[in-house]
Amino acid sequence: MNIPLFEIYNDENDIKLISDEIASGKFWAVGPRVSEFEEKIANYIGTKHAVALNSGTSALHAALLSQGIGKNDEVIVPSFTFISTANSALFTGAKPVFADIEETTCGLNPESVESLINKNTKAIIPVHYGGCPCKIKELKDIAEDNDLILIEDAAEAFGASVDGKNVATFGDLNILSFCQNKIITTGEGGAIVTDSDEIYAKINLIRSHGRLESADYFSSSNLFDYIDLGFNWRMSNLTATLGISQIQKADKIIELRQKNAEYLSRRLLEESDEITIPEVPKGYNHVYQLFCIFANKRDELIKYLGDNGVSSKIYFHPIHQSEFYRNKLKYDVNLPVTESIFEKTITLPMFPSITTEQMDYIAETIGKFYKS
Ligand SMILES: Cc1ncc(COP(=O)(O)O)c(C=O)c1O
Repeated sequence: MNIPLFEIYNDENDIKLISDEIASGKFWAVGPRVSEFEEKIANYIGTKHAVALNSGTSALHAALLSQGIGKNDEVIVPSFTFISTANSALFTGAKPVFADIEETTCGLNPESVESLINKNTKAIIPVHYGGCPCKIKELKDIAEDNDLILIEDAAEAFGASVDGKNVATFGDLNILSFCQNKIITTGEGGAIVTDSDEIYAKINLIRSHGRLESADYFSSSNLFDYIDLGFNWRMSNLTATLGISQIQKADKIIELRQKNAEYLSRRLLEESDEITIPEVPKGYNHVYQLFCIFANKRDELIKYLGDNGVSSKIYFHPIHQSEFYRNKLKYDVNLPVTESIFEKTITLPMFPSITTEQMDYIAETIGKFYKS
């Protein structure tokens, strides 16, 4: 056996749509597929607007810029996340402030967040870790009570929900990623979703050079004005085409991931009592972008799995413990729950097309490791 950590779910339709688009010989950069994809994202998530961008990282950066966040501002983030959640604050000149997480969802602990709020705090960026919603209702209340901007980092949680309401609809503006290991993917890509017309207009400017776009830039003879500072963070029309094909499969992808996660959980618990699987709170719809367990002798297990053809990985090394944050930025913080979860967490293979045989093999290999 040689089981990868993830496989991209793709089909003939992905190939056909994108091949047709290439063959048209036009609209390889901007084009009508982008707004079509945006409309589908907004419809799926349940927001008024979506703006497609070239990555989840630029979506985070644009989100903070659109809120005027910068020097002397503080943004509360988890440390148990991909580095760009925290770096997005640094990009703008603001300071990321790390709050601790809680054990059930591995998301921000509302009490820890509350204790860090001061007059410089401007925003909170909760992360829905690995596709499991965090305690977003409680965090939304805290943001509202303290007049803070709430930006959900739903990069890993496309389609996840709490009590039937999708994540990425709780915050003022929220981000998604379509990088290759995410629920739906365009290779690289991201989006901001929001109900606000004003935020939507600002993000459109930031995404494309601060340019007022009254028509298709490349084919129109209009004179376009530049009214603010902006970047080239656009998603290409070709990329959006793939997104349109992928989003049609989102429900199926999520259903397969959930079915597989249920089976793998059951098999793992049959094979060993040296591991625990975080329990998903009632009403929380987890989409399993990652399948993560807590394991005794974690590092030895990772090696054993690797030697036996099973990929695994640690998501995430806490950001506050990275060389950059510790030694260059001189962060010296204690996050006991983050650190203890990091010590025992391991991400196992999980993807829509994983087979029963592959999952049995993973569970049996883990069982053998603890028996040996
Ligand atoms: C929680 C989280 N935030 C942000 C990002 C950044 O997204 P991207 O890789 O599309 O820039 C990722 C992706 O890895 C992520 O997992």
